[in-house]
Amino acid sequence: MANSFRGPVLGIESSCDETATAVLDESGRVLAEAVHSQEREHAPFGGVVPEIAARAHLAALPHQIRATMAKAGLTFAELGAVAASAGPGLIGGLIVGSQMAKGIAIARRLPYVAVNHLEAHALTARLPGLLPDGAAFPYLLLLISGGHCQCVAVEGVGRYVRLGGTIDDAAGEAFDKIAKLLGLGWPGGPALEKLAALGDSSRHDFPRPLMRREGCDFSFSGLKTAVARVVERCEAGALPQSEAADIAASFQRAVAEVLADRAGNAMAMMRARSPAARLLVVAGGVASNGAIRTALTQAADARGFQMVAPPVRLCTDNAVMVAWAGLERLRLGWTDGIGFAPRPRWPLDEPGMDRTAA
Ligand code: KG4
Ligand code: ZN
Repeated sequence: MANSFRGPVLGIESSCDETATAVLDESGRVLAEAVHSQEREHAPFGGVVPEIAARAHLAALPHQIRATMAKAGLTFAELGAVAASAGPGLIGGLIVGSQMAKGIAIARRLPYVAVNHLEAHALTARLPGLLPDGAAFPYLLLLISGGHCQCVAVEGVGRYVRLGGTIDDAAGEAFDKIAKLLGLGWPGGPALEKLAALGDSSRHDFPRPLMRREGCDFSFSGLKTAVARVVERCEAGALPQSEAADIAASFQRAVAEVLADRAGNAMAMMRARSPAARLLVVAGGVASNGAIRTALTQAADARGFQMVAPPVRLCTDNAVMVAWAGLERLRLGWTDGIGFAPRPRWPLDEPGMDRTAA
């Protein structure tokens, strides 16, 4: 298909609890972006409530889209295309974001791209100016967020091979659950990391599930149960800060070691597929954890890979990555019909992601 779009791309992200909007110019330069976190709305419930998320996206998006366009100094008539996360994620929020994007696309007769949220994370490293040499295909992606934990061979736009993933919880989910046990509130990852800095990571020898086993699958439920047992041994509410800090530090160390071990195997698998591969891209909210970054950097160094993680604001959910993924697809002439239905489940390596393979 011919490349028929021209002009800036508006991106919309609403798959979970971030309402995000961004406008990128044709070259991928960020003209404006905004992220509204719904943390305050969900915190009283200790996690994301899908119905509240959808309503909050609906309340925030119309104004936020207009504000982002204004910040970019653009009118809707000057847009070249619209891209929105269409899955995987919470269906209510996905419908809200997709419908807004489709409405703008219909009104302005613009190309529309239904972006796979995981593809957006996968392609973020290719944003112009992010890495000194860019991120040329193929590279290995380790996606570690609240909802996802997987190793993916990124071989081209739309060309992904899942090498392994979690068989129970995602890494961020494990952080959130342990943080909850320790009374740190939600979301727990950043608070747990702060507390861990005060603790002794060798105090508890927690299990490292699947460590030194073949492949690059992950499991965190056994670790979670082991931590819960230690916490329960102390009386409810009576956990001294120093005890909690030791538990947090020991847990974080176990996760970091497991992730480094699994990523090590994934790099070997990647090399076997593509001998030229030398880049490990880490994305997702958990990638902002310092101890985990350090462990992954060491694992990459040991395998002759370079570990790169986009800056934190691009690692967590945002719309810059959605607009960029849209741009990557638009450049190939890949757009979607207005009838595209948002999808709560949408694996990255599903047939159809790569239009050239059709
Ligand atoms: O990518 P993200 O913003 O949203 C999705 O899940 O898609 O990731 C959020 C997850 C949460 O589970 C949060 O607790 C975790 O990332 N997280 C962290 C840290 N910052 C965020 N986990 C560990 N250490 C952190 N510093
Ligand atoms: Zn995400």
